[in-house]
Amino acid sequence: MLVEKNVPLQFSNTFGIMAKALTLVRIAGERDVAAVLADAALQAAPKFVLGGGSNIVITGDVKSVVLKVEIMGKKLLGETAKAWIVEAGAGENWHEFVAWTLHNGYPGLENLALIPGTVGGSPVQNIGAYGVELQDRFDSLDAVDLTTGKSFTLDAAQCAFGYRDSVFKHASTGAKGFGLAGKALITRVRFALPKPWKAVLGYADLEKKMLQSASGAPDALQIYEWICDIRRAKLPDPQVIGNAGSFFKNPTVTPEQCADIIAREPKIVHYLLADGSVKLAAGWLIDACGWKGKTIGNAGVYDQQALVLVNRGGVTGGEVMTLAKAIQTSVYERFGIRLEPEPVVV
Ligand code: EPU
Repeated sequence: MLVEKNVPLQFSNTFGIMAKALTLVRIAGERDVAAVLADAALQAAPKFVLGGGSNIVITGDVKSVVLKVEIMGKKLLGETAKAWIVEAGAGENWHEFVAWTLHNGYPGLENLALIPGTVGGSPVQNIGAYGVELQDRFDSLDAVDLTTGKSFTLDAAQCAFGYRDSVFKHASTGAKGFGLAGKALITRVRFALPKPWKAVLGYADLEKKMLQSASGAPDALQIYEWICDIRRAKLPDPQVIGNAGSFFKNPTVTPEQCADIIAREPKIVHYLLADGSVKLAAGWLIDACGWKGKTIGNAGVYDQQALVLVNRGGVTGGEVMTLAKAIQTSVYERFGIRLEPEPVVV
């Protein structure tokens, strides 16, 4: 096991925030976790599991021991009458994995193309886009308990998936009384890609592509290409402009609260949910408060999508959080709604 000291993290987080990991160990398999736990000092230290760094804001040098997940491998495990079961190592790049499934004839992840990050990070925040969430395609995952070193498997129910949420985002002492944040390292994730394949359309941007296209019913590869086009047009490429995707969750309100807001703000973008509550478009709320394109320090609001905060050059985590707080305050003052950040603040 190689224990690295003072490792720059600028290229290990998509915001491009400059900070160091005081101690970092690369994890290529269960054996590396066992080696960490066999070392008394490392065993006792708090740990931070780092995947693609696409959903974090680093607010200073990381003092917890950083476990950088580099577990690779992609394979078809088997096939049932209802699904292809495909497995990938937690360190695999998410988008490359999606492309691999499609090119090998296992469709189902096309709506989730081009989401930055790794396979291991995908269940942590239950990634979602264009009508599909990870939990819709999830089979199970393997993880290692960072206290005991024991491996275990979780099914979907045990992951407690919610909107951009799972058991991995909660501390064991948190409000929900359970949680694996900092306690487990995901090693492999299995997906059940349903047979027969069915297109998930219905999102306005996708419907627009359908109308523009001369051909008939799209196949999975066609949808994959449309999703890539839509995302490239709307969202900043982290290789060019540092960012962590959507910075806030879309808030939900009661129908009464929504009616009250609509009376004041007739144009508010909202969607009715199956349970009767109403989801509001956080991007619209932020945009309506005039934040699109604005900058505070080196942190900015993307000029095509107000839900995305960006690095204008040399941003610090503190500057990102200052901008986030200013946005939360103005949205609260105008709409009475508290926006909740989506990335993990480290
Ligand atoms: N809108 C504005 N102004 C803006 C941004 C958005 O008026 O500056 C309006 C749009 O016109 C649209 C509505 O708000 O009517 C929703 O916008 P969009 O369709 O872009 O989706 P979103 O709610 O902003 C969510 C996810 C994205 C995902 C897209 C597509 C969250 C927090 N974000 O964004 O996920 O790609 O839907 O499914 O749920 C991510 O989580 O990092 C992410 C990028």
